Amino acid sequence: MTNTHALQAAAHCVTVPLGDRSYDIRIKPGILGEIGSCLSALGIKGKVGVVTNPVVGRRYAPGVLRSLRAAGLDVSTIVLPDGERAKSLHSVSAILDALIRARFERGSVLVALGGGVIGDVTGFAASIYMRGIPFVQVPTTLVAQVDSSVGGKTGVNHPLGKNLIGTFSQPRLVLVDPTTLRTLPPRERVAGLAEVIKYGVIADQTFFAYLEQHMDRLLKLEAEPVGHVIARSCEIKASVVAQDERESDLRRILNYGHTIGHALESLGGYRKLIHGEAVAIGMVQEAGLARHLGRCAPDVVERQRALVRRAGLPDALPETTFARLWTAMQHDKKVAQGRVYCVLPERIGKVVIQPLEREACRQWFDQQRRRGEPARPRSGPRA
Ligand SMILES: NC(=O)c1ccc[n+]([C@@H]2O[C@H](COP(=O)([O-])OP(=O)(O)OC[C@H]3O[C@@H](n4cnc5c(N)ncnc54)[C@H](O)[C@@H]3O)[C@@H](O)[C@H]2O)c1
Ligand SMILES: [Zn+2]
Repeated sequence: MTNTHALQAAAHCVTVPLGDRSYDIRIKPGILGEIGSCLSALGIKGKVGVVTNPVVGRRYAPGVLRSLRAAGLDVSTIVLPDGERAKSLHSVSAILDALIRARFERGSVLVALGGGVIGDVTGFAASIYMRGIPFVQVPTTLVAQVDSSVGGKTGVNHPLGKNLIGTFSQPRLVLVDPTTLRTLPPRERVAGLAEVIKYGVIADQTFFAYLEQHMDRLLKLEAEPVGHVIARSCEIKASVVAQDERESDLRRILNYGHTIGHALESLGGYRKLIHGEAVAIGMVQEAGLARHLGRCAPDVVERQRALVRRAGLPDALPETTFARLWTAMQHDKKVAQGRVYCVLPERIGKVVIQPLEREACRQWFDQQRRRGEPARPRSGPRA
């Protein structure tokens, strides 16, 4: 394939169908340089605030600003610190200060240029400034491109817990430039693959088989499989969100792997495992639990374990006790009336939501432990 053909094959557009709040996710290598015309095509004029951090801004803000200015927009930049700690009310306050000083109006727009942290904070600030101004997501991590930039959950952390403050607020547009993944630290890139694998398990066995077939090409960041995988992941998330925007029911299937995953993240003090790694372990372990409960066949567990390993993700439960794990699982958001609800696979492509009984889980945990020494989690500072 020539380069032009490869780029065309890697271009996709997915619509999130939400009536008059519907929006497009445009996926195309190099689309960052076209952001000005994309915004103009939506009728956006006047002031645009680009929110980013030093790591992403240094690489990608100059091209974005150039394109926005070439489209005649009045652009300013707001730079937050890097890292999860920037997902705070303090950052929201800093954005609001900048908007008030620069006299942003109802029709002014915010652009989130960065990973999930920047996207979540920017979306939240946009949703409360003057009771809501439009915002555009420009996700630059795989997690943000396949998950956080789509679906309209915005927000920040509170010192007492993650994601406790926020709104449901949909962006006007999502622009995904997969070439930005080339500069992403490998550990972050691989972590995003956990959410991608999740979409296959919860909704699409053909997609799961595609991942099994093309994992090596994905890891090499080949344009065509990367474009397809981002687009299909966004399609699946868009379809779930369109049916249940505010997570009353169906949207909870997106939490597959997260009941155990969140528990492991909190047991490790959010330092040992990054989110995608915890979700990878969570998926394989929740599949194992489903198998123990007679919900699925052994190959449903083994195919996930094999794919997770090929992606370079961990799959084994870190050293812990059942009591600690169970307590941490109780703190998960999926707890209702004191029962832990978990998403369990019946087969690849089909999951159910089921309350868990403590005793059955303890038996599963003990059986796991008898089967072999627990593997240690991959630890180390976040790359
Ligand atoms: N809103 C949702 O529905 C939703 C869904 C999933 C996750 N999230 C949230 O997203 C956050 C995690 O997002 P994340 O994994 O993108 O983390 P992140 O935003 O912290 O980005 C990870 C790191 O990569 C850097 N980075 C980003 N793009 C880069 C690039 N192209 N090249 C080099 N470095 C780059 C960032 O500066 C950061 O250091 C969490 O706060 C999580 O709660 C939200
Ligand atoms: Zn997740």
